[in-house]
Amino acid sequence: MSSAISPSGGPRSVTIRRPDDWHIHLRDGAMLRRVLPFTAAQFARGIVMPNLVPPVTTVAAVAAYRRRILDALPAGMDFQPMMTCYLTDATAPDEIARGFESRTWIAAKLYPAGATTNAHHGVTDIAALAPVLERMEGIGMPLLIHGEATDPEVDIFDREERFMDQVLVPLLARHQGLKVVVEHVTTAETADLVRAHASRVAATITPHHLMINRTSLFQGGLRPHLYCLPVAKRERHRLALRRAATGGEACFFLGTDTAPHPRAAKQAACGCAGIFLGPVALQCYAQVFAEENALDRLEAFASENGARFHGLALNEGTVTLVERPERVIDSLPVGEDEVVVFRGGEELPWSIEGVRQ
Ligand code: NCD
Ligand code: ZN
Repeated sequence: MSSAISPSGGPRSVTIRRPDDWHIHLRDGAMLRRVLPFTAAQFARGIVMPNLVPPVTTVAAVAAYRRRILDALPAGMDFQPMMTCYLTDATAPDEIARGFESRTWIAAKLYPAGATTNAHHGVTDIAALAPVLERMEGIGMPLLIHGEATDPEVDIFDREERFMDQVLVPLLARHQGLKVVVEHVTTAETADLVRAHASRVAATITPHHLMINRTSLFQGGLRPHLYCLPVAKRERHRLALRRAATGGEACFFLGTDTAPHPRAAKQAACGCAGIFLGPVALQCYAQVFAEENALDRLEAFASENGARFHGLALNEGTVTLVERPERVIDSLPVGEDEVVVFRGGEELPWSIEGVRQ
């Protein structure tokens, strides 16, 4: 299918094959029940990150988490969670293969220990992970990477670049058949690195990294709800990411990194990293693609490139977006607290007109 763009006259609109979100945090319990319907309303499938507390590291734990997600899905909604397992220093190659071959998960997530929210059980010595990575290479199982150096001496704005140079480049050389997704890419240089290995390396790009730069975090004061990891970088990087997302290259695809946290955890003396995009993700991407005159490439980025990389069928059904301004809800109540929405209270120029399953 090629995406249909409305002729001139009325408001611009675009109809694309139903998209997938290749990077989501759904959490668990009450938060899961609250946020899941928003992602399920926009996406047919989503890759669910495993950074729960404790992290989901085994076939049994991931299967149980998947069941809880399906149980939390409102009746009549059609959404397929695609699961991942969390790599630790103790991950066994046999367990990794068992989960992939039983289709319990489709990929493994590598968090360098301490790199981000709930990453303290992550991998401390990536070289020691070689037996696991060799097995993944052998069975064609992708590795999803949070690519930031964890040395506290490294400037926070340089952590992605440092990781790429010191960890990812050697890892790609050691494991020449391993399929890798660099998650939530934030720099021009990382985008180029992905392009240089595009036969087996891809990257997800978030809406916020296409819309904000590091100055946005301090616009008129500290903006805790724009704080995520990897942190947004300089304007030149944002522009490079917009070129990567909208340029039609198959190695870049949609991954929102929607990461809900209670307001109290964000607006704190030490606020945590993560931006909640559930209700606005597609509208934000549509805005960016429209601004870049690339609406005809939205479908490849949102609905094709990721599925092809993972060897999965494309979705049936469509989503139609229209250039009709809609005000975004400020926040969602969750228990005694609430979750602030990206762009909450603002008017976004694009809205979702309809979904056909
Ligand atoms: C994510 C979270 O809250 O789980 N936070 C974030 O800033 N993106 C973790 C992650 O993807 O880094
Ligand atoms: Zn994430």
